[in-house]
Order: sequence, then structure tokens, then C-alpha cells
Amino acid sequence: MDPLVEAALKARENAHAPFSGFKVGAALEDAAGGVWTGSNVENATLGLTVCAERVAVFCAMAQGVRQFRRMAVVADTEVLTPPCGACRQVLWELCGDLEVILANLAGKTEHLRLRDLLPRPFDASFLG
Ligand code: THU
Repeated sequence: MDPLVEAALKARENAHAPFSGFKVGAALEDAAGGVWTGSNVENATLGLTVCAERVAVFCAMAQGVRQFRRMAVVADTEVLTPPCGACRQVLWELCGDLEVILANLAGKTEHLRLRDLLPRPFDASFLG
């Protein structure tokens, strides 16, 4: 198994999802080969929940890392779970055209590019 998928699978075990019961793990590989992981963390207001993907990228950013290559996202679904719209936007702005690997617990995987998940993105280039 790809070690990045393995890291996301392991991170999923730390998901705090008492409201949805839907656990997600993410692992982000930086340009130096470092791996930053995240799981979803829910909150009683529901709206303050943070997805696994954003936890992973914020964790890396907070340690000063700025260049990224790939992200793996793991959830327990037959149809592989993709990043939500908010995560696509954040990942685009902070990581650019990442390779995104979706996976489930049965070992099914799919490789995508972020530009295909978020066509015609808004980003800082529009701010002049
Ligand atoms: N979730 C993620 O962490 N990542 C995704 O790609 C999809 C959704 C979380 C948010 C929430 O805690 C739960 O899954 C159900 O939406």
C-alpha cells in the first residue's frame, strides 16, 4: 500500500466524529517528503467542524511548510469520498494542483488532480 494512504488510514482512527459517525483521515506529502496528517474534528454546533484535509494542511502550514505534492483521503465508503468544496478551495490556495488520492478501507483507490476537482478556481491572482 502507498505509505501516504497508510498514513491517512491511521490518521482516520483519531477522527472525532461523535455527531456524524463519519470518520475521515488525510495525509499530505510535502516537497521534502514529510507527511502531515489530519482527521475530522466535529463540534456540537456542527458548523464549526473541521474536515480532515484542512486539519492536515493547517498543521503543515503552522510548522512553516509551504510546498506540497500529494494528499491521500481515506473514508469508509464504497464510492470514494472526495474533499468537500471548502477543502478544495483551501487546498487550491495553499497547495496548488495537488495529486489527490482517494481511498477506502477495502484498499480501493483513485488518483485525481485538484485542478479537475476545482475547475476555474478563484484565488489570490484575482486580487491584483
Ligand atoms: N469530512 C471530512 O473530514 N472530509 C471530507 O472529505 C468529507 C467530509 C467530514 C466532515 C464531517 O465531520 C463528516 O465528515 C461528515 O460530513
